[in-house]
Amino acid sequence: MNEYRNLKSLFVMGLAVMGMTLSACGGGEGPPKPPPPAPAEYADKHMPDGYWNNPEILAEGKAIYTGVQNIDVNCASCHGKNGKPVKAGARDFRRTEQMELYSDSVWFWRVNEGVKGTKMKPWKSKLSEDEIWKVIAFEATFGLKGKEYDVATKKWVAAGSTGSAPAATEAPAGDAAH
Ligand code: HEC
Repeated sequence: MNEYRNLKSLFVMGLAVMGMTLSACGGGEGPPKPPPPAPAEYADKHMPDGYWNNPEILAEGKAIYTGVQNIDVNCASCHGKNGKPVKAGARDFRRTEQMELYSDSVWFWRVNEGVKGTKMKPWKSKLSEDEIWKVIAFEATFGLKGKEYDVATKKWVAAGSTGSAPAATEAPAGDAAH
């Protein structure tokens, strides 16, 4: 008798835990959670000038992200072609309120070193630093389109508005001509 009751309550508990896990992973990942700060050796790494929202850079970043450049590096196989995760637990890059909490340095650190204990591998042996910045510039377009990370204020701001000068209206970010 008792045994049966125990089994039954175990089963009910099991269902409850499953339900909790499902709701934690599915759909809304819950309230936005800031990532840990970047370790010292990454804290001063920043997106190269003129990369954010640069169509050529984004095209190269997309080729990396989708495995077109190297089939062994296929971010889209977990994170989805449009940033909507296709593998459980992969970060949803479309969630602006989550991705806004990532500095360029944190982003760069995570792609380089991966996230221990998850399917997110370190990519630094497969991608150069430059390639990693390109893939980040592309990934940012899913949730932070038209924005760039302002190192000075530690905020995501409209592209081209970084620095103390007022946003340039006519000139695009970076050098006008070479
Ligand atoms: C095999 C599946 C898989 C592949 C391939 C993959 N990721 Fe991930 N990625 C994950 C998972 C799972 C997480 C969530 C890790 C966690 O729980 O913090 C993640 C998280 C991330 C994060 C956020 C890290 C954080 O701290 O929240 C970034 C940025 C990221 N991935 C970028 C990339 C890039 C760029 C590529 C391709 C070079 C890539 N991922 C390829 C599974 C993958």
